[in-house]
Amino acid sequence: MFWSLLFAIFATFLRSASAAESVAVYDSETGLTYSQNFALYKADGRGITFRIAISSDVSSYSAYDAVVQVIVPNDVGWAGLAWGGSMTKNPLMVFWRGSNNQPVLSSRWASSHSTPQPYTTATYTVFKTGTKSNSTHWQFTALCSGCTSWSADGGAVRYVQPNGGNRLAFAYSPSKPANPSSPSSSITVHDVHAYWNHDFNTARNSGFEAAVQRLLGR
Ligand code: HEM
Ligand SMILES: *[C@@H]1O[C@H](CO)[C@@H](O)[C@H](O)[C@H]1NC(C)=O
Repeated sequence: MFWSLLFAIFATFLRSASAAESVAVYDSETGLTYSQNFALYKADGRGITFRIAISSDVSSYSAYDAVVQVIVPNDVGWAGLAWGGSMTKNPLMVFWRGSNNQPVLSSRWASSHSTPQPYTTATYTVFKTGTKSNSTHWQFTALCSGCTSWSADGGAVRYVQPNGGNRLAFAYSPSKPANPSSPSSSITVHDVHAYWNHDFNTARNSGFEAAVQRLLGR
């Protein structure tokens, strides 16, 4: 009883804390303005910072690239971002630290509430710039192609709306994947998941394409 009550309070706290508003953050290193949300996974205040930048040229009902910058406390085993705001039937970006502490990004898809499988339609390219670590956190910055649209059951195409808010979701596990150097490694189920409304309007950048070319080293 005590523990379930405590858990209910903790769960309520997690839910409300991670429902915070998106804020706009300019990152001078990558030269992009991101829409940022903080997703709490521990009652002591630990959480993952999710930042998303897109082009100001994109319109609704089109597929478009996104740059994602994520800041992760070192105790995270694996974590994931669900672009469509639920575990199943949308692109999942799962990430952890591999050998040499380099970030491993694993593109996945789950058709049910069981281990998500590799999803080749969405691809991630990690930039050297904006990818680093220190004694408490690590962060990566990556370009995703294929994260903002996908096919729902029956073939209808779903889009992340580039002009307003979208429900996103994340999951956290303290456990490292079985084979951290492989993006297709098995992972164990999360301890925490939560949802928030991510504002994509403030993620829009007029210099997006030029910044991406620079970050790709072209
Ligand atoms: C081994 C891997 C995984 C297993 C076995 C697993 C299993 C499950 C199960 C059983 C639930 C239902 C919990 C409930 O109804 O209370 C659930 C919910 C959820 N999971 Fe996972 N999961 C895995 C990986 C992931 C990943 C990689 C993500 C995100 C990137 C994720 C995001 C979510 C979310 C957001 C929910 C809430 C319900 C929903 O939106 O569908 N899960 N998971
Ligand atoms: C450690 O790295 C993270 C991610 O880059 C950064 O947000 C944080 O400010 C850094 N902490 C210190 C003490 O430099």
